[in-house]
Amino acid sequence: MTNGILKGKRGIIFGALNEQSIAWKVAEQAHAEGATFVLTNAPIAMRMGEINALADKTNSKVIAADATSVEDLENLISQSMEILGGKIDFILHSIGMSINVRKGRHYTDENYEFTMKGLDVSALSFHKVLQSAMKLDAMNEWGSVVALTYIAAQRVFPDYNDMADNKSYLESIARSFGYHYGIAKKVRVNTISQSPTMTTAGSGVKGFDSFINYSEKMSPLGNADALDCANYCITMFSDYTKYVTMQNLFHDGGFSNTGVTQEVMDRFAE
Ligand SMILES: NC(=O)c1ccc[n+]([C@@H]2O[C@H](COP(=O)([O-])OP(=O)(O)OC[C@H]3O[C@@H](n4cnc5c(N)ncnc54)[C@H](O)[C@@H]3O)[C@@H](O)[C@H]2O)c1
Repeated sequence: MTNGILKGKRGIIFGALNEQSIAWKVAEQAHAEGATFVLTNAPIAMRMGEINALADKTNSKVIAADATSVEDLENLISQSMEILGGKIDFILHSIGMSINVRKGRHYTDENYEFTMKGLDVSALSFHKVLQSAMKLDAMNEWGSVVALTYIAAQRVFPDYNDMADNKSYLESIARSFGYHYGIAKKVRVNTISQSPTMTTAGSGVKGFDSFINYSEKMSPLGNADALDCANYCITMFSDYTKYVTMQNLFHDGGFSNTGVTQEVMDRFAE
């Protein structure tokens, strides 16, 4: 099902690591909907080389950028405008990483150097992307910037660890920067809060397998998968959502508004 709703739009897509990545699906869907874009990831992620297959498939160029480096971001954004032949209409920030999670550090025993690095990569990088784009006057009016987040920003999911704090910060940036970018350039900034999804970043969270099953049973529609998340991102990049900005949008099969489901209740009656 494609309708060409991104025809003529230019974008930058962060975070396609492998076929499981949400950003990978966004790139495939954006290409199918007629967009042209630049793919980017951290230099270290490039070494895996998988992104080149996606670039071939979507006819796009790849530019390495560490999203914590303003210099890298400014280079990426300037080069993207040159390659794509004009200002940018959409940006996807699909980046997350916690060293405390990776190293199995408990939330009550954080290594603060790890914490600061994770915060920089997962949240502050979003501000850096937005500020760099604004300073370079790189976005067209009614352009759309989306970052991916998780409901642990609002409610406690113990094993999500310091990523919960990172996501709160990320969502706050969408509101605050969305205000300023809206007034200055009519650019929209939102976060999409996605169901747990089997990807490299997702499966790094302790107990992810049982958690994804729990979430499935707690969502009236079931967990949303990466492809459907990509489709939601595409609508957010399109002109059909022009007045949506500064929002955290749940894409979670109803999980966020469900207290309990009958299926979960039944398990406790056993
Ligand atoms: N998988 C889930 O369950 C889930 C649920 C909700 C939200 N999200 C969010 O979706 C986004 C994408 O994650 P994913 O699940 O597709 O996993 P993923 O591992 O495929 O993507 C994470 C990406 O972040 C990139 N990255 C890490 N450090 C970077 C840096 N310094 N500069 C640039 N890029 C860097 C990685 O290379 C990778 O491509 C993340 O923000 C994640 O928190 C994921």
